[in-house]
Amino acid sequence: MYGVRYVHTFFVLYAFTVAAFMVSDGEPIRNALIQATSIAACFFGGLYSSLLVYRLFFHPLNKFSGPLGARVSSFWLSLQLRNADSHKKLLKLHEEHGDFVRVGSSDLSIVHPKAVEAIYGLGTKCIKGDWYDLTLPMVSLQTTRHKATHDRRRRLWSTAFSDKALKGYEERISRYQQRLIAQVSSFGGQPVNVTTWFNLYSFDVMGDLAFGSSFNMLETRSEHWAIKLLNEGVEPLSFMFPTWFFRMLVNIPGLATDWWRFIGYCWQKLDERMSTKVDIPDVMSALLAPWKDKRPEGGDLEILQGDSQLIVVAGSDTTAATLTTVMYELARRPDHISRLREEILPYVTKTGEIPHQRIQYLDHLNGVINETLRLHPPVPSSLQRKTPTEGIEIDGVYIPGNMTVFCPQYVIGRNEDVYQNARAFIPERWYSRPEMIKEKKAFAPFSTGSYGCIGRPLALLNVRTTIAKLIMEFDVSFAPGEDGMMLEANTRVHFTAGLGELNLVFKRRQP
Ligand code: HEM
Repeated sequence: MYGVRYVHTFFVLYAFTVAAFMVSDGEPIRNALIQATSIAACFFGGLYSSLLVYRLFFHPLNKFSGPLGARVSSFWLSLQLRNADSHKKLLKLHEEHGDFVRVGSSDLSIVHPKAVEAIYGLGTKCIKGDWYDLTLPMVSLQTTRHKATHDRRRRLWSTAFSDKALKGYEERISRYQQRLIAQVSSFGGQPVNVTTWFNLYSFDVMGDLAFGSSFNMLETRSEHWAIKLLNEGVEPLSFMFPTWFFRMLVNIPGLATDWWRFIGYCWQKLDERMSTKVDIPDVMSALLAPWKDKRPEGGDLEILQGDSQLIVVAGSDTTAATLTTVMYELARRPDHISRLREEILPYVTKTGEIPHQRIQYLDHLNGVINETLRLHPPVPSSLQRKTPTEGIEIDGVYIPGNMTVFCPQYVIGRNEDVYQNARAFIPERWYSRPEMIKEKKAFAPFSTGSYGCIGRPLALLNVRTTIAKLIMEFDVSFAPGEDGMMLEANTRVHFTAGLGELNLVFKRRQP
């Protein structure tokens, strides 16, 4: 947290040393500068050579395999991520080094079948890693590292996802589903880049649920300026820089402007939302409930501001990515579309509605969604946790205390020790072929435990109903020349996955 302060302190001391040589020894400025620079060089030489010797020969993570560069510095991984493809790089590293890979001086990536439960599960002693301090002093539910404070805040959030609240969200969401269907229909069988359209749709939905009004992106057929800023602002996250370095970067004037302008926009929308009454409660209604007609101030307002942007950021990209990848898998395998239609048809009402309550437990629909989330997790790479001082043990392997650990879901989803025939898309493994899942607790696209995704029921409601409506309304196939390669090749991971283009053709089905 003190990187900038160290830099300032260094320059103050350096200037003081130069001045001391000039005043007390009467040295000319050139000599004073040379002497002060030599002292600084000795200091840094000593500091970094001792650090290097420690990391190479005495560090408690030395027993774990990993590239030599990663042992020496956590920047090694950042240097590999020029294409923002941490998920693929981590897959390659695990193929070379096994289940436990040292990816930084104090960082371990782990894909052992028992690791998810040990690191994220309810009984874990691991806490959120220092990555979550990136946006300090702004905090949200997700970036609250203090366990008791987080638990308190989470209790309030949980009221936003009751069955009654979800029913209201379904009604709100259905307006955007109608708009999405109308827009897709307007293409008249020409290719639709669903990556873009599901993004417009998901941000509209989450804007509506956060602020009572959408970003109007489906109507305007384009990205709202604030969402553009958000997408540009999160790009640097793809490098997985050490947190101290990231904190220093964001302190450079101008470098984090896009991100903070997006945050400023959310604060302004929150302000408007606090003076509005909504007909059907949104997520924000639950977070505002404790204040009734009062206006929150000070720290209470700050956490609300943090949470208002979290609703949009946490719920949009992730849902959009899931919708896109489900459609991708279905377009590759039209037989699953037929099976889904057979399964869903009995639950379509006379007026053509598909209520979530009727389809939420359908085996094949849930199987398709789970299988997609397994192979294309929207948060594919790193959810940092810190091990407790006494360390933890995973299936007999001891991991020392105060180390940063994470379990990349993208790699776990492809691990044969966790899933049989891991690279194949087999929805049945989730209901009629349980032997194909060797460790169910390793499946955690929403994470798990007390920091797991609180919006999961809303996300699943949205994905189930949107997919059901689209495939009942349209025949879906790859556009001419499309094979899904761009989707995979151009995916950029900046905590969540920003997917590459996917062009599909939607043709209205005959009644
Ligand atoms: C398919 C869609 C979604 C996926 C895959 C997903 C995934 C995740 C993951 C992996 C986390 C853990 C993050 C961490 O530990 O840092 C998380 C947290 C969270 N998600 Fe989601 N999410 C989805 C949709 C949503 C939606 C629709 C909302 C609604 C607002 C939401 C709200 C949250 C919140 C508030 C947290 C922080 C929870 C906490 O720290 O206690 N998510 N999500």
